[in-house]
Amino acid sequence: MGPVLRVAGLHKSFGRGAARLEVLRGVDLEVDRGELVAVAGTSGSGKSTLLHILGGLLHPDAGRAILAGADVYAIPERARARLRALRVGFVFQMHHLLPEFTALENIMLPGLIAGLRESEARRRALELLEWMSLADRAGHQPGELSGGEQQRVAVSRALVNAPDVVLADEPSGNLDPSSSETLHELLLRLSRERQQAFVVATHSPGLAKRAQRTLVLKSGRLEPLAAVEEWL
Ligand SMILES: Nc1ncnc2c1ncn2[C@@H]1O[C@H](COP(=O)(O)OP(=O)(O)OP(=O)(O)O)[C@@H](O)[C@H]1O
Ligand SMILES: [Mg+2]
Repeated sequence: MGPVLRVAGLHKSFGRGAARLEVLRGVDLEVDRGELVAVAGTSGSGKSTLLHILGGLLHPDAGRAILAGADVYAIPERARARLRALRVGFVFQMHHLLPEFTALENIMLPGLIAGLRESEARRRALELLEWMSLADRAGHQPGELSGGEQQRVAVSRALVNAPDVVLADEPSGNLDPSSSETLHELLLRLSRERQQAFVVATHSPGLAKRAQRTLVLKSGRLEPLAAVEEWL
């Protein structure tokens, strides 16, 4: 089986004329099942831009993205929206959970939208809560959860449709060191034990050290990380 996600020759610029900013200048990346790829890079290096392109949210100026056998930017918008909903999970720095819904309902929701039966969405959500050691928080609303717990619910929500890849943009960016560590440990376990693929933009040297692969976005290209000390 080939990689779950493959991009080649990605270019992306913003602005025009003198204000033109070339953010990506030929990015290639392949991600396999069960692999967690950490993407490091200074602020403004283009990590979020890259994740948006990988997830079908932002057209590149050039290059291709292949996800689940589909050429993401060559298919009609409606097909791309479907691909995003079914094949990609997103986790952001801010959890974006719906405040009026419980943890369980927040996790079930993308499943219901994708057409899962309610019983199946509930079964998956409860299984994920168990994984996250949050079974006893199923009925809590986001406001009743700690920041670390909220992010674990957000990760569960991203996983409910069993996506080909989860794209996480600084998922531990707002967490204290101990909650960050717990979250990273969970992501790494999910990659190993559920063969889940992740691309994680991160400023965390701890995660970069333990990821299967760590790359650095530098001058618009992805490079292997020579040493974690490089960006400490
Ligand atoms: N829609 C946009 N219009 C114009 N410029 C943009 C746009 N989106 C991003 N940029 C610019 O592109 C560059 C890369 O931004 P991006 O958000 O991808 O960086 P990042 O690596 O995620 O940074 P951070 O670590 O701070 O999150 C930045 O200079 C940013 O200002
Ligand atoms: Mg960013």
